[in-house]
Amino acid sequence: MSYNNPETQAIRLQTERSQHREHSTAVYLTSSFVFDDAEEMRASFAEEKQRNIYSRYTNPNNHELVQKICALEGAEAGHAFATGMSAIFSTFAGLLDSGDHVLSARSIFGNTHTLFTKYLPKWNITHTYFDVNDLDTLEALVQPETKILYIESPTNPATDIVDLALLSTFSRKHNLIFIVDNCFATPYLQQPIKFGADIVIHSATKLLDGQGRVMGGIAVGNADLIDTVYRFARITGPALSPFNAWTLSKSLETLAVRVEKHCENAHKLATWLEKHPKIRQVRYPFLESHPHYELAKKQMKLGGNIVTIEVEGGLQSGRVFLDNVRMCSLTANLGDTRTIVSHPASTTHGKLSAEERLDVGITDGLIRISVGLEHIDDIIQDLENSLEAIQ
Ligand SMILES: Cc1ncc(COP(=O)(O)O)c(C=O)c1O
Repeated sequence: MSYNNPETQAIRLQTERSQHREHSTAVYLTSSFVFDDAEEMRASFAEEKQRNIYSRYTNPNNHELVQKICALEGAEAGHAFATGMSAIFSTFAGLLDSGDHVLSARSIFGNTHTLFTKYLPKWNITHTYFDVNDLDTLEALVQPETKILYIESPTNPATDIVDLALLSTFSRKHNLIFIVDNCFATPYLQQPIKFGADIVIHSATKLLDGQGRVMGGIAVGNADLIDTVYRFARITGPALSPFNAWTLSKSLETLAVRVEKHCENAHKLATWLEKHPKIRQVRYPFLESHPHYELAKKQMKLGGNIVTIEVEGGLQSGRVFLDNVRMCSLTANLGDTRTIVSHPASTTHGKLSAEERLDVGITDGLIRISVGLEHIDDIIQDLENSLEAIQ
């Protein structure tokens, strides 16, 4: 039986039951898989027969997770990784050759920026950044060696929304592989492949797990491209643990209800913060005041769970704010059931220069709130107390 609704796919797509007829999928904590005879072993290694050989390559739990994300994203194929960063690195390393060039949005996750600036140049792979708020400059930045166009939407942490349809048309025109890090939206809110993306990447550590438990990453998309990425990964070994794959697959069963509630809380919080006198600016994609509100409405089902604020008084006020939260957590993650407040300028984006940070919309006083699933009144009360502490 096939299911079309994402809520059902995320629950009912399941690895074939074993002889024990378990209801929930078993955890296949095994390094390798056995063969009946020499011929089966030969045919499997020769890839004449599709089956599990070794968990660095494939595993039933990883396969179940990949099948679910493929269904949710509308992708042909996928592969799961140990972390979001290993998904990103393996995708670049698998698809790019020495001498290739990447055109990337400037506003990307700090560690992805470090990949571009510090590690990919070791293999003579270069990049050029573009401003997601000035897509007219793109045409002039394409080089004969450009192979990949890379973006995040919404961006981390400024929550800029990037026009997926426009960039996919641009990528087709210039024969580029269009890759979208869809981690902030999740496939429940946005499916970049429907707008023409070739590959979608996730840090599954975030909303896909949603409970701050396990690390994971995934890349899904065009089958030929994913096969190239998979072949790099099965040799180099950034495999997702089957236990983490099992945990993530269970998490997906509640993705729709969790994300709906995250968005409801985030929208309520952003609306409340917008009226607060100590807040200079609030950004949330589904607030009418957001510069890309119309585009967000076109591309996304709801506004996501990230709200950013700029408190009056800059860096000093930002520190006072963080020092005075009582319930909300100060931690590196996002997309958890627990509300998390963080200061990108001194943490995730600390490796960027002050000028580079400003280029991607990160001022010293910017605070990122990953809105959780606690009761909205308790979230507001904690943040209100914290804002009161600012002189
Ligand atoms: C947008 C985005 N992409 C990728 C990553 C990297 O994911 P991971 O920490 O699972 O390696 C992160 C982590 O914060 C992120 O925010």
